[in-house]
Amino acid sequence: MSTALYRRYRPESFADVIGQEHVTEPLMAALSKNRVNHAYLFSGPRGCGKTTSARILARCLNCAEGPTPVPCGKCDSCVELARNGSGSLDVIEIDAASHGGVDDARDLRERATFAPVRDRYKIFIIDEAHMVTSAGFNALLKIVEEPPEHIKFIFATTEPDKVIGTIRSRTHHYPFRLVPRNRCWRTWTGSVRRKTFRWRPESCPW
Ligand SMILES: Nc1ncnc2c1ncn2[C@@H]1O[C@H](COP(=O)(O)OP(=O)(O)OP(=O)(O)O)[C@@H](O)[C@H]1O
Ligand SMILES: [Mg+2]
Ligand SMILES: [Zn+2]
Repeated sequence: MSTALYRRYRPESFADVIGQEHVTEPLMAALSKNRVNHAYLFSGPRGCGKTTSARILARCLNCAEGPTPVPCGKCDSCVELARNGSGSLDVIEIDAASHGGVDDARDLRERATFAPVRDRYKIFIIDEAHMVTSAGFNALLKIVEEPPEHIKFIFATTEPDKVIGTIRSRTHHYPFRLVPRNRCWRTWTGSVRRKTFRWRPESCPW
């Protein structure tokens, strides 16, 4: 039950991400000016929206009408990257907790040399990035330092200090915050009224 709710109510656009305006507003501005960095680091406590925001950013970047702060929701990429979509070949999510070794990093590096299959960018979301080994990070260094035009990287982690400095300095770092209690409460009551759910209890500081 909780898994179904969790999947079902994951926000699909930046407007639905609560309490992280210091991240979502500059990202939306960068998207509308088409001035998006090639690598981002999303850090912050558990359950505050890092992975969700990485997926939204990927959807904004690869929308056929994009890059746009508000994905159209209708193109192939938007449909594939929607909550219940199939996923897109051009958005590659890597869980570094299980794939953070040097061989995985080399594999990623090789995949990054190929052009996107269909969409604008090949986007690598490296989740739990603190679990990438130092050999793994070193294997990624060159491509993160000098990525081909068609590549974007989004690292997400609870422990940004464990991302080696040489990689971290190449990223635009956005620290996410705990969602303020009153925002949680408003969302929660609104969600109950609409029979939706939006957040994980551990993202509230109470
Ligand atoms: N700021 C937020 N606004 C709206 N919903 C949120 C927010 N943060 C988390 N959620 C909800 O909580 C769930 C977990 O969020 P998400 O997986 O993005 O967290 P995370 O920061 O990546 O956590 P972790 O460090 O555990 O990986 C998602 O389903 C999302 O719907
Ligand atoms: Mg996450
Ligand atoms: Zn679209």
